[in-house]
Order: sequence, then structure tokens, then C-alpha cells
Amino acid sequence: MTVRHFLTDLDLSPAELDQVLTLAAHMKAHPYAIKALAGPQTAAVFFDKTSTRTRFSFVAGISALGGAPLVVNPGESQLGHKETIADTARVLDRMVSLIIWRTYAQSGLQEMAAHSAVPVINALSDDYHPCQLLADLLTLREHLGGTQGRSLAYLGDAANNMANSYLLAGVNAGMDVRIAGPAGYLPEQRIIDAAQARAEQTGAKVLVTTDPVQALAGAEAVATDTWVSMGQEEEKQQRLELFGDYRVDAAAMAHADPGAVVLHCLPAYRGVEISAEVLDGAQSVVWDEAENRLHAQKALMAWLLVRSGLADAQTAE
Ligand code: CP
Ligand code: NVA
Repeated sequence: MTVRHFLTDLDLSPAELDQVLTLAAHMKAHPYAIKALAGPQTAAVFFDKTSTRTRFSFVAGISALGGAPLVVNPGESQLGHKETIADTARVLDRMVSLIIWRTYAQSGLQEMAAHSAVPVINALSDDYHPCQLLADLLTLREHLGGTQGRSLAYLGDAANNMANSYLLAGVNAGMDVRIAGPAGYLPEQRIIDAAQARAEQTGAKVLVTTDPVQALAGAEAVATDTWVSMGQEEEKQQRLELFGDYRVDAAAMAHADPGAVVLHCLPAYRGVEISAEVLDGAQSVVWDEAENRLHAQKALMAWLLVRSGLADAQTAE
């Protein structure tokens, strides 16, 4: 059986994405029923960048699945400086059942996966944040009743990992995805092409624009993210000036559907990419979205283990 990894939003087919989200909703209702890591088996969780939600949701999720998480912070292992990624993978897959990694380059995750006999999960890279999008899609299922044909506008830094993941995961879930940011800060053409190819399978729509009002028009979900991602701190001043027209505030929300929900992966900077009024307001579903990291990732881990032949379907689904 081929080992399954989750490195980008398109690593799940549309049908598989539906399976994982359906399992996540089941696991949310029955938090300790599925013990896909009973033993306890160990899951390695590497962080090359800081984290609150991803760290705690993986630790809590691995524990709830009956496993033992080992969190490794920068400088605590040989990975990336004294030992190659490939050699680390060859050693770890003999000891642990999952490798979860927050890092910079997507190529590092690809190298880890190429040499690992256990699933590798992208816990955020410079290019994608696919675990976050599982949580966002679960939240949209809960609050909008589904995702097929539903519209989502993302405003702000449209060249970052969240914009790419909204585009790819959104089309994978059949959504009408509108991405708006300033010229020069839009998704790369390769991401748009991949989204359009997947959209042809799912009936989704793709719009990439510099016009925030065009993106927002009647949108049923409105999302944003920090304007200064981890690793971009030196560009902070320039970035704060660049994205001013793409702030999610009451004026922006006036263009969306009156019942629209607001998403933000957090951490949020009130008064910068999103106003406090909107983040803390009645349309915001950001706390459900944060909680859903836990449920979505538990489902993902169980699903990957079963599909890789590393857990029994009866105990994991
Ligand atoms: N949304 C998210 O990934 O948060 P953390 O950086 O706190 O993990
Ligand atoms: N785009 C942000 C997401 C944080 C969860 C970053 O990469 O810092």
C-alpha cells in the first residue's frame, strides 16, 4: 500500500476531502471514540516557526487518538543542519507513525515525504497551510450548511500561504473562490493554473483580482490573514502601507452577503488586516474555526494512517 502524505491542499481528491471533513464532524461529536494511534504510537511534530493553534491542536489531537506526541523546536534535533532531511526521514519512519512539520520551504516537506514510509503532514510552509483549510471548510459546513457553489472572498496578502490554500482547498470543495490583493501580491500563475484545473472537476469558480469590491460582491464567507507572515518581519512597514485597501472592516463587509461569516486563521492584528468590530462581531466564526483545527486534524491523521495501511479501518473510522 502506498503511504499517503498531506503536503498541499490538492493532495486529497474532492471525494477524499469530503471523507475527511465528514469524519471530522463525526469525531467532533465523539472525541475519544477513534484510537488510530493507540499503543501509544509516537507522532513527531517539528516546528521551525512559532505556533499556538497548530502546536496545541496536534498535541491534543494525537493524545486523543491514543498516541504520544513529541514536539521538537528549532535547534533541538539534527534536522536541517547536522543531518539531511532524507536521512532524518529514513530514521524517524522506523520509530514514529506520523511526521508533522511546520517549516519554510515546501521542497523540504517534499524531500521528507519522498523518504518516509509514514505519512508526512504540512503544518504550514511558505506556500501552503492545508491543515488550516480543513478547519475552515469544516467551519463553513457548520455555518453555511455546505461548500458546493458557496462563495468565499479572501482579501489582503494574496501571495501568501493562506491565499494559496484558500484558492486550492476552496475549489477542491466546489466553492466560488475570489482572491483579492494588490498587483504583485497575487497568487503565482502555477497556483492559479492548478486551481483552475481542479475547479473543472468540481464545478468551482476562480477569480483573482486587484479589486476588493469585485471579490466581496455578495460573498457568503469573507476571509483574511496577517499582512506580515512569519519570515517577512523585515518588510513590515512596507507591507502595512501596501494592503490598506484590502482591510476587512464594516465598510468591506457592506459589500458581502448580509449573512456572511468571517474567517481568520489567527493570530489576528485588530485594526490592521481586520477591524476589532468585525473580528469580535456577530459575523465572526473565528473561535469555531480555531477549535476545528483539533477535529479536522484528528480526522486527517486517522484517515492518512488507514489509507497508508498503518491503522485498522475498524478502529480509525
Ligand atoms: N492558525 C495557525 O496556524 O495558528 P498558529 O500559528 O498559532 O499555529
Ligand atoms: N500567513 C501566516 C499564517 C499564520 C498561521 C504566516 O505564515 O505567518
